[in-house]
Amino acid sequence: MNVLRFSDLVAAGKVAGQRVFIRADLNVPQDDAGNITEDTRIRASIPAIEMALKAGAAVMVTSHLGRPTEGDFKAEDSLAPIAKRMGELMGRDVPLVANWVDGVSVAPGQLVLLENCRVNKGEKKNNEELAKKMAALCDIYVNDAFGTAHRAEGTTYGIAQFAKIACAGPLLAAEIDAITKALAAPKRPLVAIVAGSKVSTKLTILQSLSKNVDGLVVGGGIANTFMLAAGLKIGKSLAEPDLVGEATAVIESMKARGAAVPIPVDVVTAKTFAADAPATVKAATDVADDDLILDIGPKTAALLAEQLKAAGTIVWNGPVGVFEFDAFAHGTETIARAIADSSAFSIAGGGDTLAAIAKYGIEKDVGYISTGGGAFLEVLEGKTLPAFEILAKRAQG
Ligand code: 3PG
Repeated sequence: MNVLRFSDLVAAGKVAGQRVFIRADLNVPQDDAGNITEDTRIRASIPAIEMALKAGAAVMVTSHLGRPTEGDFKAEDSLAPIAKRMGELMGRDVPLVANWVDGVSVAPGQLVLLENCRVNKGEKKNNEELAKKMAALCDIYVNDAFGTAHRAEGTTYGIAQFAKIACAGPLLAAEIDAITKALAAPKRPLVAIVAGSKVSTKLTILQSLSKNVDGLVVGGGIANTFMLAAGLKIGKSLAEPDLVGEATAVIESMKARGAAVPIPVDVVTAKTFAADAPATVKAATDVADDDLILDIGPKTAALLAEQLKAAGTIVWNGPVGVFEFDAFAHGTETIARAIADSSAFSIAGGGDTLAAIAKYGIEKDVGYISTGGGAFLEVLEGKTLPAFEILAKRAQG
């Protein structure tokens, strides 16, 4: 995808003394007391900010936090905890500015954080008047918010239409590059792992990927529905029998292209859904009426691991079993370690997947870990994200 990159503007010496407006995604989880419980997105946003400061820009950064009511600012909507954390990470004071739409005072070399942009009236629906006002605040608009790239809002879309210059920040550019490498021009075989509780929430992803990938590994409740489609019994396991037709269509569409959806040959079952429930490994053909399938079995895991080790590209979204319970974590651990050991370029995204990556400590062995939740899923669905679309349009002049 051809978009203007902020790093190229910096390299060309076009940033010094300019007013730079960075849209980051600083929407991090907080506990009830407002403490940040996970700060990956803040850390991931810092390179763009430092790049702008180092280049001598006057830097404004904003983000949404949660889904506040426009025009009705409440204390819990404030980016104050984020300003504090960012200040700690950057080793400088990060002043927080409220009511900023009509003007921001910031000098070259200074950094200000602009309060929750979703409190501004018109942000969600991408109001044109708001977008024009925000565009007038800056010389250069930088979108670095991949996590919000699937939303066409004032700070992710409208401002990009009207700003003098609109470009992608280093995080957004890295996400674009990784997605392109994995899905648009993949080294083959391309293997995708799509797991999770329900086919219904990932049906469009399965359908879209089935047109592109060489292997489509399904896991979790999704695999159970595919087992039903393959004529296997799954006992009391989580599944969506109404979607067996759709699962069959995905299997057939893969087959027609000479590709496959591997169906588990063995599984790990329990009689109840509990961390201490006794785990039994059995053949996929031996599942009893009162069994719950909570993981793929060791033979299946080994077969999939071989396939992943031989892959050219791997896309991973979702753990293949209930990996939060140790007795049912072996499948996910085997998959994670196979991805880590594979020479394939791998891209992973989604909350549970990131938790599994952290649990097995394989962060450094995954080619790219996406910061997007919903945005990553929409990419897998084959959609063009609005933030990418407008930056590409602007790059055409
Ligand atoms: C996310 O957490 O996925 C992004 O920050 C987008 O948030 P939203 O779903 O509220 O638009």
